[in-house]
Amino acid sequence: MSKKVTKAVFPVAGLGTRFLPATKSIPKEIMTLVDRPLIQYAIDEARAAGIKEFIFVTSRGKGALEDYFDHAPHIEQELKKKGKDDLLEILKGTNMESGAIAYVRQHKALGLGHAVWCASRLIGNEPFAVILPDDVIAAETPCLQQMVEAHAETGGNMVAAMEVPAEKASAYGLLDVSEDMGSMVRVKGMVEKPKPEDAPSNLAVIGRYILTPKVLRNLNKKQAGAGGEIQLTDAIAQEIAASNDVYGYRFRGQRFDCGSKAGFLQATVAFGLAREELHDEFSQYLQEMAAIQKAAQ
Ligand code: G1P
Repeated sequence: MSKKVTKAVFPVAGLGTRFLPATKSIPKEIMTLVDRPLIQYAIDEARAAGIKEFIFVTSRGKGALEDYFDHAPHIEQELKKKGKDDLLEILKGTNMESGAIAYVRQHKALGLGHAVWCASRLIGNEPFAVILPDDVIAAETPCLQQMVEAHAETGGNMVAAMEVPAEKASAYGLLDVSEDMGSMVRVKGMVEKPKPEDAPSNLAVIGRYILTPKVLRNLNKKQAGAGGEIQLTDAIAQEIAASNDVYGYRFRGQRFDCGSKAGFLQATVAFGLAREELHDEFSQYLQEMAAIQKAAQ
């Protein structure tokens, strides 16, 4: 049995230029899906998977994230006075136990691999999870929890995986599969954003990882890969030759690419419809919109 995974890294240093001008003054991870910031979905998923320590890799201008996870006594007092217990309950999910959350800065934008490497000292010598908050996954059993359960059997390194349309595959890390066991695949190669003619498959890496500390040692070499950046994919791929223990896990759930505007809007619709208190009104509005669109065609 492999050691329990209790630490997770959240790389949140990116500038979020695709969402300018909004991201001029707010971190993109604070942008809201319905009424919760993206980062809250990531934290909730991590908690469901048994994560106890949360490591944020940040950069300049991300202070709003630190405030978000702090207690807000003035709001809490006001809500208590007004007897708004339901809202107090919602706020509880944003509070972190003292010492459970740590922030480390990535001083230069050298890539995802470098961002994760920045957390090395806080991770130490144990397996850890990485969650990319841009990838929001709606699932009955949260994605990382599914992976933690699968990882208890395999150990080693595991990445979330999903088939993507061939024409979009070059935007992802892609897996070269040696053994397909259904929800789990054993990987014999991994390549970050290859040219279409070099794509080993259309099975893409999605932003959930469970990794061994050896990956951090590989990142220590600071080798630049695709796009001139230090890639997490390359550091994981090195473990294939070293220990043949890299797995892809086809999770059950729907993934939204909230790093893109279209993906963010799709997630807003899906999460809005999933809310009991919004469902009827919102669904009626969408049907009206669809009818208007159809009539206009
Ligand atoms: C990152 C990873 C890539 C992965 C993707 C999933 O890329 O480097 O391997 O497929 O996340 O969202 P990014 O989208 O940050 O360029």
